[in-house]
Amino acid sequence: MRATVTAHRDYRIATIDDRIYGAFLEHLGRAIYTGIYEPGHPTADANGMRGDVIELVKALETPVVRYPGGNFVSAYNWEDGVGPRDKRPTRLDLAWHTSESNAVGVHEFADWCAAVGTQMMLAVNLGSRGLDEARNFVEYVNGPLGSYWGDLRKANGRAEPFGVKHWCLGNELDGPWQVGHKTADEYGRLANETAKTLRAFDPSLQLIACGSSNSDMATYPEWERVVLEHCYDAVDYISLHMYFNNREKNTAEFLALNAKLDAYIATVASTIDFVRTRKRSKKRVAISFDEWNVWYHSNAQDKEILSGAAGWPHAPALLEDIYHFEDALQVACILNTFIRRSDVVKIACIAQLVNVIAPIMTEPKGQAWRQTIYYPYYFASLFGRGVALNLVVHSPGYDSRVADNVPYIDIAGVHDEAHGALNFFIVNRHASETIELDVSLLGFGAARVVDCKVMTSDRLDAANSAKAPMTVMPKKSDNATVAEGRLKTKLAPHSYQMLRLSLP
Ligand code: AHR
Repeated sequence: MRATVTAHRDYRIATIDDRIYGAFLEHLGRAIYTGIYEPGHPTADANGMRGDVIELVKALETPVVRYPGGNFVSAYNWEDGVGPRDKRPTRLDLAWHTSESNAVGVHEFADWCAAVGTQMMLAVNLGSRGLDEARNFVEYVNGPLGSYWGDLRKANGRAEPFGVKHWCLGNELDGPWQVGHKTADEYGRLANETAKTLRAFDPSLQLIACGSSNSDMATYPEWERVVLEHCYDAVDYISLHMYFNNREKNTAEFLALNAKLDAYIATVASTIDFVRTRKRSKKRVAISFDEWNVWYHSNAQDKEILSGAAGWPHAPALLEDIYHFEDALQVACILNTFIRRSDVVKIACIAQLVNVIAPIMTEPKGQAWRQTIYYPYYFASLFGRGVALNLVVHSPGYDSRVADNVPYIDIAGVHDEAHGALNFFIVNRHASETIELDVSLLGFGAARVVDCKVMTSDRLDAANSAKAPMTVMPKKSDNATVAEGRLKTKLAPHSYQMLRLSLP
């Protein structure tokens, strides 16, 4: 089977915002406790943060990490997580039916972010709480000394403001499962008033209003319209979430699901345009896709804890999906979609980062390892920075439930002008056919292949584990060649390929 692609230097979609390679960490399961934080672990630093996890996260060059939730944030009192540890209360976490010790709060999380070299993106609780607690939190985190909250922060060990730019105005408040679930009008008004108030403190904050929890919500996309009608002028982003599953064990359908993601982004982009036009506004609200991933492997095993039958355990194993090889293909397709929609998606966060539906897993007191999905995320984050190219793709395709003629190859191309590089991320969705790919390179000069990494597996359900952490990993390949302005490569059935070309 053959596919052809044309890449022209001047056919550009947009400059990719690095923040599309963000991540998310929630006080949920073992994400924080025995995930990033485990005093007594052999690799723990002076703050009790696991050094092995810091190294794996650092390598991802994740620009922002959203925290502390998620559903958790909708009944969270941020004050519980500051001040002397021995005075912090243990609270019941209503979102996940667990106990929260509050041993980690905003100070500890900030130190961890500094250690991995990322920025905090904080969420305020607009579920059980409201505007006043939100402004107090922002003033505590960013306020000057000489004010009540700034001085309290200093008393708790940090004189310098944390200077957090990104603030999420609640989480998934369209969802009936959320503590403090609201209608679009209720939430839209609250988001607007909160955003206005936070802007009175600092007009330069980047504010993110909640969009839909997923595109199957009955309220989608009316939710986005109504919310934006209320808060368009006051916010910068509308957030979207989406999780993918292959419960029915149909890989062709599973790998077509980014067509649904594409339609979701397109619809919300149109809704933004609609509201912008109604408001006769020049301002462009963008999308923060701040939760996305594959999530289903752990659903059955989580039922007991979520039902409350286990009481209120502290940091139990929850949402610990063990990812298969095919999930890595899906994650690559999702990331390609964000690159192709970098005109409107300016922030995206893989959900989550450690132990909870995560690319990184840990054993308490033991080792940390990379799941299959770590790799496409790693390659996109490192080499998917620059200008997204508007590729012309001719590929045979197949009809799926979510879309017709889904191309067998999913490809994104990025021109990294700063490093004189042209990078491609490619998935072959075909189960049995090798695809011969022929890419015409126009306007780039004499390109040279400098790296080609391939992920293949004879089992779609192959996975990594603590005992066998390198079962699924990328291998170097010499598949790809460039001659006379044409890049040629072979894509094995059900495979991923990352290609890096150097340009003159
Ligand atoms: O990431 C897990 C959960 O998924 C988050 O807490 C919530 O926002 C979403 O429903």
